[in-house]
Amino acid sequence: MKLLVTGGAGFIGGNFMHYILNKYPKDKVICLDALTYAGNMETLADVMDNPNFTFVKGDISDRDTVFQLFEKEKPDVVVNFAAESHVDRSIEDPGLFLHTNILGTGVLMDACRKYGIQRYHQVSTDEVYGDLPLDRPDLFFTEETPLHTSSPYSASKASADLLVLAYHRTFHLPISISHCSNNYGPYHFPEKLIPLMIANALNDKPLPVYGKGENIRDWLYVEDHCSAIDLIVRKGREGEIYNIGGHNERTNLQVVKAILKELGKPESLIRFVTDRPGHDRRYAIDPTKIHNELGWEPTTRFEDGIKLTVKWYLENRTWWEHIINGEYQNYYERMYGHR
Ligand SMILES: NC(=O)c1ccc[n+]([C@@H]2O[C@H](COP(=O)([O-])OP(=O)(O)OC[C@H]3O[C@@H](n4cnc5c(N)ncnc54)[C@H](O)[C@@H]3O)[C@@H](O)[C@H]2O)c1
Repeated sequence: MKLLVTGGAGFIGGNFMHYILNKYPKDKVICLDALTYAGNMETLADVMDNPNFTFVKGDISDRDTVFQLFEKEKPDVVVNFAAESHVDRSIEDPGLFLHTNILGTGVLMDACRKYGIQRYHQVSTDEVYGDLPLDRPDLFFTEETPLHTSSPYSASKASADLLVLAYHRTFHLPISISHCSNNYGPYHFPEKLIPLMIANALNDKPLPVYGKGENIRDWLYVEDHCSAIDLIVRKGREGEIYNIGGHNERTNLQVVKAILKELGKPESLIRFVTDRPGHDRRYAIDPTKIHNELGWEPTTRFEDGIKLTVKWYLENRTWWEHIINGEYQNYYERMYGHR
């Protein structure tokens, strides 16, 4: 199988790349990534020499680049991870989110229509469902939960989902969509909660926690997300949405305390800061459909995953220190500029 994976220099796409190349030694993988601030070639350093892997620097919303790539490679499957993904940034600059997340998705699907495809998979988020109240632990997001977005980020992802469903209905494009809960694990950019807290704690810097730290997220170890997407792409039904989550709900404060405990650092490092506008209260996924139809279940419990994650950040200090000091942005030119 030949896969075109967009956004593969980012957190989840990078993990997916490693997952596929390890699991399917005969598959060919092409990564298309614009290398925005969130793309990091150091994440892909150990697959760059794999003969089954090709990296292309380019923007999914650039029609010429995308069509030329399809013309040359004729991929069997497209998995679209490429996105602007940080909620706080979407509050600063919504326009960029609309451009990449909606228009970029449209360009990719237009190319799929022209060149033919076995499957176009849209990696989406549980944030399209908005949030759940903190005092109703019995409520979960199912595939039937109405879209009800809170931030420009989630609104752009929900818009893209609707476009993907429209291309299925109107043009019979063989699509699938997944809505996953919050991921954590290796190669997570240190602006996001878990890696930010690990990096700050290791440097004995204050750990900023929004509001009172009561917001609840349903945390999934990133490799479990990769295995779910792999199953959906290969065995999931065309035209379907699958929710992915592992029933690992934790308040932000519980997550931060677990990290401090793992690192042997004091809770006095925690600083409560002004809450984000429109901050979603609780996300919680009902993964019954993907479990019943495809037999998927997560293999890493939160207690184990957080240990693995902290260990990874301890063992890969250079990776995240290069992000914090900005050096990772020169890495592509230094290593691959002449290739
Ligand atoms: N992180 C999570 O917890 C989570 C949970 C559910 C769903 N998702 C979704 O998964 C996908 C990946 O998330 P992530 O956390 O890995 O994101 P990320 O921000 O770490 O990575 C995004 C990648 O996309 C690339 N990119 C951005 N704009 C591009 C463009 N116009 N053309 C080509 N490449 C572009 C970036 O360079 C980067 O490599 C996103 O679509 C996101 O909505 C993320």
